Formats: sequence, C-alpha cells, structure tokens
Amino acid sequence: PDGAVLDARGRPLRDLRISVTDRCNFRCTYCMPRELFGADHVFLPHEALLTFEEITRVARIALANGVRKIRLTGGEPLLRKQIEILIGMLAALRTPDGQPPDLTLTTNGTLLARKARALADAGLSRVTVSLDALDDALFERMSDSRVPVATILEGIEAAAAAGLAPVKVNMVVRRGMNDGQILPMARRFRGSGHTLRFIEYMDVGNTNGWRMDEVVTGAEIVRMISAEFPLQPLQAGYRGEVAARWAYADGAGEIGLITSVSQPFCGDCTRLRLSPEGRLFTCLFAEQGHDLRALLRAGADDAALARRLAGIWQTRDDRYSERRGEAHRDHKIEMSYIGG
Ligand code: GTP
Ligand code: 5AD
Ligand code: SF4
Ligand code: SF4
Repeated sequence: PDGAVLDARGRPLRDLRISVTDRCNFRCTYCMPRELFGADHVFLPHEALLTFEEITRVARIALANGVRKIRLTGGEPLLRKQIEILIGMLAALRTPDGQPPDLTLTTNGTLLARKARALADAGLSRVTVSLDALDDALFERMSDSRVPVATILEGIEAAAAAGLAPVKVNMVVRRGMNDGQILPMARRFRGSGHTLRFIEYMDVGNTNGWRMDEVVTGAEIVRMISAEFPLQPLQAGYRGEVAARWAYADGAGEIGLITSVSQPFCGDCTRLRLSPEGRLFTCLFAEQGHDLRALLRAGADDAALARRLAGIWQTRDDRYSERRGEAHRDHKIEMSYIGG
C-alpha cells in the first residue's frame, strides 16, 4: 500500500538490522565460545567492512522500499570506531513520507555508560541491552568475561538518563544455566521504567550445541513470574512485534516474551539483515547471504541497487522457526556475525 516491497509470502519489508562488526569483547558460551573464537580467530579485516557511506546508501534504498526501523547490531556494535558518526548519518535519512527511521541499537552494555550521551546526541532513538544474569559469578561464566554486572547496570541507567528510553533489557534463558535468575531479574527491573524481555534459547549458529530441553518456554516464564507478581496480557504494539507483552497487574510496568522456539513468529517477519561485509540475509537461520558489496564497489547506481534489494526481498520464502526439526541445516550464519 505505501510502497513497501512484499516477499513471496506477502510480508512487507519493514526492518533493517545492520551488523557493523563481527567482533565482540564478550565470549558468551552460546554465541562465541572461546574454543572457536580464541586469540587465533581471524576477524574480518577493516577493508572488508562496509564503510559508513556504503551502509547509509543501503539504508536509504531500504527506506525507499518500506523499511521504517533500523537496528544496529554486531558482534558488539559499540566496538565499531566512531559509530556515532554512522548514527548521525542514518538519523538524517527519511522515509518516503518524510519520517525519520526508528533508529535503535542492541549492545552488551559494557561501553554504554561511556557512550550513551554521544549516541543520543547523534540521533539514536533507543537501545536494547543484553543481560543474562544479575549474579556476578554466573554472569562472568556466561559471558566468559571479567566484567561485573554493575558495569552493565550503569550502562542501562546512563542510557535511560540520556533519553534512550525505554531501555529494553534482553535475557536469553537457558535451562540449568540461568533459569534461576528469571525471578531476580523480574524483581530487579519491575518498576524501573526499563522493559525486561525473556528470549527463548535458540538454535542459531553452528557452535552452541543447542538442545530443545535447554529451552525454557515463554509460557513457563509467565507462570513462574505471575505466581509472585500477577500479570495481564497486553496488545501487541504493532503488527509483527517480536515480543509478546505482559503487564504487571499492580502497574509496575511490563515484560516481554520472545518465543521464537515455542511460538514462532515467521508469519509476520518483516526483517532484512545486512552483514558487516555487505551481504543481505533474509532470515536469521539462512545459510547464505546475497552479496551487495560487489555491486556497491562496482559503481552501480541507486536504481540498480534498489532492483537488487527488492528482488532479494520479493523471492524471500523463509520461515525457519516454523519448520524447525523438518529442516536440518549444516551451515547457519553465526549470531556474532549477524546480530540476532
Ligand atoms: P523492538 O522490540 O522493536 O525494539 O525490536 P526487537 O524485538 O526486534 O528487538 P531485538 O533486536 O532486541 O530482538 C530481540 C531478540 O529476538 C533478538 O536478539 C533475537 O534473539 C530475537 N529475534 C529478533 N528478531 C528475530 C527473528 O526475526 N527471528 C528469530 N527467530 N528471532 C528473532
Ligand atoms: N538464542 C537466543 N538469543 C540469542 N542471542 C545470542 N545467541 C542467542 C541464542 N542462541 C541474543 C543475545 C542478544 C541478542 C543480540 O541475541 O543475547 O540479546
Ligand atoms: Fe555475547 Fe552478544 Fe557478544 Fe554474542 S555478540 S558474545 S551474545 S555479547
Ligand atoms: Fe524471520 Fe527467519 Fe526468524 Fe522466522 S526464523 S522470524 S523468517 S528471521
């Protein structure tokens, strides 16, 4: 209706998730296990990465084709040098009806206390911070780092104080690992103004040895929390919203459940992902991307780039999470490369 390109299942292109680096200062065991991402791991060289100009050009073309929301991810996006310059360039873009994009970023929070103000000044709308535990020992074990939880909490407060609010806090729940942190996390973020979201542990990438019995379902989490604090379901904020929302009955805010395993949401999936080196992925579980960088660096004009981008979206048929189990894949992209 408004010029958004539709895929083979009639889903409009609405979100562009841009991974700006494959590097991270954490080594979360389910994402970048140190045995595989150790000192000898070869990351992408700087020349391989899309430049800020190239990223902005792809984003501008995506906005002309229906995108309304842009999310920066990584790896850890705040490790990309001068990321606030890229944020400024993206914030200056407009949709065909003259609106700025909703511009957000997913971070592990380690550098956020230092950078929140500059990010907000550059035009970032909001942030999402990953935090899997409040217990220091457990957090260190899961992130395989020496960063104390207090650093991440300071990052969250700095972001809110800078106006990057409401801050969303994402917790990946893995049974037998951090399921004991569900209630402490709920208690900590109730009434804080930040929105805590629980993510079902997914079989992304090839290295985490995922097993179904490690998944704590969203329904279990709602049962567990509502036994202590009654919850009421809320309407989705917009069509295709990833998180199912629940409000605390006493008015202490809301939580979200991201149930990609127990209740997949492929039917409304409007997300296109751009990798650090300029490949487009039409699904988080895709095995292959579509190279745009060659076209960008061969001097293609905007019309040719737009045709390529629209063509990739129009032939998109992905719905991996709805077919999990039927469709075994050997070479999925890594979460650290494409950013969730
Ligand atoms: P907002 O709520 O609008 O801020 O966006 P969002 O819900 O997309 O936020 P975020 O990027 O924080 O997504 C949260 C998590 O949901 C991601 O880290 C992934 O683990 C998961 N997720 C997001 N998009 C997809 C998707 O397309 N497919 C699957 N299977 N999981 C997704
Ligand atoms: N399952 C679910 N979420 C994951 N993330 C990384 N790996 C997984 C997984 N296997 C989350 C991170 C972060 C976001 C970018 O994706 O914890 O919140
Ligand atoms: Fe952990 Fe995110 Fe870094 Fe992966 S990219 S190791 S999930 S902080
Ligand atoms: Fe979208 Fe693929 Fe996730 Fe389904 S599995 S919601 S198609 S990214």
